[in-house]
Amino acid sequence: ATRTAIIAGNWKMNYGPRQAADFVKQILPALAHVIRTHPHIVSILCPPDISLQVVRDVLDAQPTRGIELGAQNLYFEEKGAYTGEISAEMVKELCSAVILGHSERRTYFAETDELVNKKLLAALKHHLLPIVCVGETLQQYESGQTSQIIEQQVRHSLANLQPEQAGQIVIAYEPLWAIGSGKAATVDDAVKVIRQIRQIYSSQYGSSAAQAIRILYGGSVTADNIAAFTAQEDIDGALVGGASLKAEFVDLVRNSS
Ligand code: G3H
Repeated sequence: ATRTAIIAGNWKMNYGPRQAADFVKQILPALAHVIRTHPHIVSILCPPDISLQVVRDVLDAQPTRGIELGAQNLYFEEKGAYTGEISAEMVKELCSAVILGHSERRTYFAETDELVNKKLLAALKHHLLPIVCVGETLQQYESGQTSQIIEQQVRHSLANLQPEQAGQIVIAYEPLWAIGSGKAATVDDAVKVIRQIRQIYSSQYGSSAAQAIRILYGGSVTADNIAAFTAQEDIDGALVGGASLKAEFVDLVRNSS
């Protein structure tokens, strides 16, 4: 594909500052080597907010183009009385990217498409690369509602973009039943939904924006199965949970090429 691939590691609620520093120091030499030798891949590490600074410091000590830092969430307001939240501007001090609307945030923290959309606009305003997650539940999958659910999430979560912003986003397709289950979607299923996402996006923002955006697959991606996904023209990389917490992540990035 002509699009630069992205392998993002979503650490979720794992690794506080001490463990994060240890882990990133452990994987960085090998990860940096893989990225240097595969310039068409970008890897984005997404630790918990409290560990962003220590990971930033480790990355800055050995600057490597192609290894980026991302947050897992932000709040759309600029600043003020929003206890416990952080703004896009704050994230931008340390990070170049942010995950938005992850299914765990939608499920456990009641995030709606409307809220995700406000966060997306805030992220773009501050020049963060947003990774917007969409995906259907097992019940929706089994009852044949996948395409309808995905269409709704894409149209509403990704609404209101300016033409110049529309090409500057990343979408992650993560079927909820594949997340943390050890049971990844089949490549055919992932390709089918990802093609549909690109079509919906094309009808929203035109085909050149739709061709420019990266669409990732997420859900039980491992060093063993990544190559089958990234071999597909339509799949521009992966959003990785569990396997991003282990040294296996380096093999996974290598095998994605
Ligand atoms: O954001 C990452 C996904 O939720 C996938 O998690 O790789 O542990 O299945 P997983």
